[in-house]
Amino acid sequence: MKRRTVVLGIGATAGAAAVGGIALTARADDSTTSPSGGTGSSGSLVFDPEGYTKLTTTVTDTAGDEHAVTYHFWKAITYVAEPVDATYQSLNVSVPVEIDGVAVDARNAPILLANSVGGYMPSSVADATGIGGGGMTPGGGGAPSGAPTGGTTGGDTATGSAAPTAPGANGNTNATGGALASNQLLALAAGFVVVEPGARGRTLKNSAGEYYGVAPAAIVDLKAAVRYVRANKGRIPGDTERIVSAGTSAGGALSALLGASGDSPLYDRLLRELGAADASDAIFATGAWCPITDLEHADGAYEWNWGDNATSSGAKVDQTVSKALRGQFAEYQAALKLKGLGGFGALNARNYDEYLVRQYLEPSATAYLTALSDSARATYLAANTFITWKNGRATFSWADFLTHVGARKKSVPAFDAFDLSAGENNLFGKGTTLSRHFTAFGAKNDTTGLTSKRVASDLPETLRLMNPMTFLTGKANPARSKHWWIRLGTKDSDTSHTVSANLAAAANGLGDEVSHTYYWDEGHGANTDPGDFIAWIARISGHKAR
Ligand code: DHB
Repeated sequence: MKRRTVVLGIGATAGAAAVGGIALTARADDSTTSPSGGTGSSGSLVFDPEGYTKLTTTVTDTAGDEHAVTYHFWKAITYVAEPVDATYQSLNVSVPVEIDGVAVDARNAPILLANSVGGYMPSSVADATGIGGGGMTPGGGGAPSGAPTGGTTGGDTATGSAAPTAPGANGNTNATGGALASNQLLALAAGFVVVEPGARGRTLKNSAGEYYGVAPAAIVDLKAAVRYVRANKGRIPGDTERIVSAGTSAGGALSALLGASGDSPLYDRLLRELGAADASDAIFATGAWCPITDLEHADGAYEWNWGDNATSSGAKVDQTVSKALRGQFAEYQAALKLKGLGGFGALNARNYDEYLVRQYLEPSATAYLTALSDSARATYLAANTFITWKNGRATFSWADFLTHVGARKKSVPAFDAFDLSAGENNLFGKGTTLSRHFTAFGAKNDTTGLTSKRVASDLPETLRLMNPMTFLTGKANPARSKHWWIRLGTKDSDTSHTVSANLAAAANGLGDEVSHTYYWDEGHGANTDPGDFIAWIARISGHKAR
């Protein structure tokens, strides 16, 4: 009998440390029924309540206590009647039945819908042997037929393997998935139902050479997964009115989009084409870690934030290009007409630095320093003299903060690269075209021989379908999620800090409940308060965590 042991990091170091610290062993119980789950007869979207495997696992919570969890595991259930690629359009379900020897009834528990998308790449749960086992494109035997070969001079070197996307010029990387795993395991040990959907991603290519996972495929898939869960209310354990989405980076962006766009008719045709279940795809709450979103405005925001920071080579990016993009940000931010949290007032390119420092960065540093021992704090402050520590509060300037972060991760433009080398250029590919420009500025400055120098006519609508801001600004979507958990590392320069802050400001402005904080000195993909996320779900859903 194999056992599965799960160890999660503790407290402030839980992020990256927890990733490395997770060790899993599992056993399949002899009393299992059908091991594969599945949709039964072809095209049926009826969940089989008996189609599970019984597994056990040990979850170490954020206080360091171990919990023995027995759970039912349904594997690789295709969630659409007419899948394009079931390897990705499938989900796993984990339902706790016994925790620390006490029977658990999860029939009315909240449902954590945790995607494992990173880099807008394909993500599959088909090969997982238990909860938390999903991830990037499966390598080895599971490698998809659609693995791309690349093909632009710009060098999008996506391989379709389990390895993260090669960086290309802009340094894109994928989230590790470790942070997600801790959410999922802690949710299970709290007595919640955990659904892990796969989704198509940008590098998938069929035998005709067509990219079938480019935008908006992944969001349509996640919506179809929600519809599947809701359509199976009463068969899938859990409260389908308390679906809480979670994801990191590209997965955080998709989680935010899922929350913002609930029940929007804009996706109906695409959902119908997949044979998605006929049910609502609105979700109750959204968890988004370092969301890489608002992509068509991200280049300007990036230069506004990181434009003065050198890259890791020590050189600044082309300041003419950077300044032109900063100007675009100023226009965009003004047009958004967002108000900051905490009564800050209208946000614009001139005051956003002050807003970030006051609302997010100083409180983040303060929380970090408060949690340190006196001697550790003294050491940290001696090494970081830009911080003034007085009356238990940290203060500093935006300029010093930028210096403290150091090298920017990406080149310019960060997302719509002139040479089409960014992952996002591939995300907005189409048909047999691997990569395309998706901003007027990128198209105008194209270096790959784009004769029109214009964005393709289909892209504005695709961009709309990929951007949560579509549904949170202007005429807001009434069926959006009303609870938002947004987290970001202060040292994360994968995108601008304004991206998360704008998301939070937009939701807050609509009267939604928003919890947005920054993890001090953490980089891309951090999740250092997963226990708090679980407690938040318990509070907003009114379902006590075990
Ligand atoms: C991810 C990171 C990026 O820098 C990006 O541009 C897109 C996605 C990610 O980690 O998922």
